[in-house]
Amino acid sequence: MKEKIFIEGGRRLSGSIPISGAKNSCLTLMPLSLLSESELTLKNVPILSDVETMKALLESLGCVVSYQKSNNILNLRMSDKPLFLAGYEIVKKMRASILVLGPLLARFGEAVVALPGGCAIGARPVNLHLMALEALGASFSIENGYVKGKVATSLKGCKIKFPFESVGATANTIMAAVLAKGTTELVNVAREPEIIDLCTCLKSMGCKIEGDGERIIVIEGVNSLKGTIHNVVMDRIELGTYMIAGAISDGDIKLTGGNVALLEKFIEKLHEIGIEIKQAEDYLRVRRISNAPISSTNIDTEPFPGFPTDLQAQMMALLSIADGVSKIEEKIFENRFMHVPELIRMGANIEIKGRKAIISGVDKLKGAPVKATDLRASVSLVLAGLAAEGQTEIDKVHHIDRGYEDIIQKLKSCGAAIKRV
Ligand code: UD1
Repeated sequence: MKEKIFIEGGRRLSGSIPISGAKNSCLTLMPLSLLSESELTLKNVPILSDVETMKALLESLGCVVSYQKSNNILNLRMSDKPLFLAGYEIVKKMRASILVLGPLLARFGEAVVALPGGCAIGARPVNLHLMALEALGASFSIENGYVKGKVATSLKGCKIKFPFESVGATANTIMAAVLAKGTTELVNVAREPEIIDLCTCLKSMGCKIEGDGERIIVIEGVNSLKGTIHNVVMDRIELGTYMIAGAISDGDIKLTGGNVALLEKFIEKLHEIGIEIKQAEDYLRVRRISNAPISSTNIDTEPFPGFPTDLQAQMMALLSIADGVSKIEEKIFENRFMHVPELIRMGANIEIKGRKAIISGVDKLKGAPVKATDLRASVSLVLAGLAAEGQTEIDKVHHIDRGYEDIIQKLKSCGAAIKRV
């Protein structure tokens, strides 16, 4: 069925929003079930369509998965009859599907995974994943759109230097190296909190890992992994998104369960443009400083701890109504400005020059029919709709279900006039 989101803009948000478990962490943790014969239990799991997609993928590989949505728990146990084919029908829905490659090769020595292909935000190749797994001893061929991987005897630890930081390639390589023989040293790895969460879970499964959260990770391979119970880290991108919801609506909201330490650069920018964030004992309070307009700023997206690319579209919606001219340079993905034409439809003044967007602030955005193109682009339109005069109608809203648990209810509880039809 074709669903749409309708927003009547101009309401100041006020109330409290709970922050869910991190989508990206959960998608990276779920494939750990392939590494062990014992059960993996994940708590604080968000209710999202991407989690459903990863569940379907793991089930197609022989994993038994129960998703208890009423209490946000996932139980995953790999059966003793593994299958090795991650088919295109599932992989094309979600690039994170490539994360089953490392675990399948490490434990079973065989994997056939459809190539994820391009996506709305860029080409997103998987060459670094394959380079690192090859260095550990896997061999690959590409046939009919599938990566076919084999391990002749077993993976062997070695030193691998990544040319640049990749979250996915770091995760895939860690998941393979934990079962490799000997020591693996990974240099220039991603330092995202979701990588730390992955390593924390792996350590509680019996892995020997040092340096997570730093540039060099050292892993001592083990023979087998035990089961564990792990709490998924909170979603820093959801937290940042709702901070912007408070700021863009000139509201005053409280966010519970969030951790500002995981968003330092982003919060520094919010302070700079006139948004106040106060940490109370068990919540964060977000509102504009006095009645001053939001100021303009310049932002470059960067790997953690820099400004996250996953908050770029939302920040652009906010800067659309700032006082003055802002610049955003997208340094992670080459085509992540799909939200720009839609924001322009709502009255924003944005010019694209290659990887740079120049945003000249306007007094008011105006409601309009717009189309969601990817997850973060779609939520930037919701944010713009909260600030806009009149009605915003967002089409193709299935994108938002991939990464925002219960967004309509969360915003409604703070007074937003938003509905899904
Ligand atoms: C992850 C996140 C995504 C986030 C991104 C960057 C998950 C499930 N997704 O995506 O939300 O936007 O990190 O923070 O965690 N690259 C290559 N070759 C490779 C791998 C990556 O060239 O083999 C490039 C990508 O095209 C991109 C850059 O490296 O330009 C960073 O991508 P990467 O960190 O790998 O992103 P993902 O893991 O796909």
